[in-house]
Amino acid sequence: MHILVTGGAGYIGSHTSVVLLEAGHEVIIVDNLSNSKIETIDRIKQITKKELIFYQEDVTDEAAVDAIFSNHSFDGVIHFAGFKAVGESVEFPLKYYYNNTVSTMVLAKYCLKYGVKQFVFSSSATVYGENDVPFVETMELLPTTNPYGETKVISERILTDVAKANPDFAVSLLRYFNPVGAHESGLIGEDPQGIPNNLMPYITKVAKGKLEKLRIFGNDYPTPDGTGVRDYIHVMDLAEGHVAALEKLTPGVHVYNLGTGRGISVLELVKTFEEVNGVKVPYEIVGRRPGDIAESYADVSKAKAELGWTAKRGIREMCRDAWRYECGV
Ligand code: NAD
Ligand code: UD1
Repeated sequence: MHILVTGGAGYIGSHTSVVLLEAGHEVIIVDNLSNSKIETIDRIKQITKKELIFYQEDVTDEAAVDAIFSNHSFDGVIHFAGFKAVGESVEFPLKYYYNNTVSTMVLAKYCLKYGVKQFVFSSSATVYGENDVPFVETMELLPTTNPYGETKVISERILTDVAKANPDFAVSLLRYFNPVGAHESGLIGEDPQGIPNNLMPYITKVAKGKLEKLRIFGNDYPTPDGTGVRDYIHVMDLAEGHVAALEKLTPGVHVYNLGTGRGISVLELVKTFEEVNGVKVPYEIVGRRPGDIAESYADVSKAKAELGWTAKRGIREMCRDAWRYECGV
């Protein structure tokens, strides 16, 4: 298949491009490099020893998107491009609502114009809000605490309505849990600008001595050790989930949780990271972070039954590969 990967120079998009190329698909990446580097494109080629086409364009730019669609005959689109920093979305809501929802609408519009029928969208477990765990795809979505989360809910609704109005349009809404780790080569991975917001990149920077200590946001949650519980998933498993979703896509809207189904606490992750990598991660316990929930983990039975996909890599591999990437940067 010929697949347009938006945001393919980013963290999840680059790993998915590797898996797509290795599965024999043709990959065309469009990315404006607002949160990524051009070197990643070469790294994808280096890992796979395959060629790909890259456009440095913004997917909210209709003329640019129209030109890309007219140059190729795509079988499907995987839409990763978007902004993802939760705190920044509270500070600059319009920036987030605009980029994340307009990009979705523009891409859906040009899929319809050019007869591209398969659309895979990067959603997030954040859409479940404070539902009870494990989160199941059939749950009613609850309000998220920030504009970023709302852009995911809105994009899911837009794509659902487009599919309703166009019965041969096939949409897969993939709700990611907490992607961590890196390609085992250490050549691509997560490299956030500035001080990381998410736990794993913060841990790797503390272990490397680039940051002094980890601040653990709360140890008074109703969880086994009091720290927050999340469903961390290796980014390569997540990438493989996209290819499974794409290859099984049929008309209509399909929603899948992509996680491991296992909740890990902050302290458990820190201890495992120290043990696997033989490094120290100094930490202190501080107050809860506003907007955080106690627990988030997936019911993964639907993806297993319908896509034949399950996460294969465990928490130790996630810690090993995250560290390998940090050490190579
Ligand atoms: P990322 O920032 O590494 O990748 C996103 C890429 O999109 C970047 O390369 C950026 O330059 C590009 N981009 C942004 N706006 C663009 C635009 N208008 N036009 C063209 N390119 C644009 O983020 P990621 O972690 O790889 O996330 C990919 C997607 O998955 C995002 O939609 C994100 O919201 C979603 N998601 C991520 C996580 C996570 O924890 N990383 C969790 C759930 C969902
Ligand atoms: C965050 C986002 C969520 C997004 C997800 C994946 C918030 C409120 N939510 O979720 O919308 O979909 O990232 O990108 O930002 N922690 C610490 N110290 C740190 C960092 C994190 O203790 O320095 C804890 C958190 O309290 C949480 C766990 O580690 O319990 C994981 O945090 P994080 O990696 O930010 O992911 P989420 O909170 O799940």
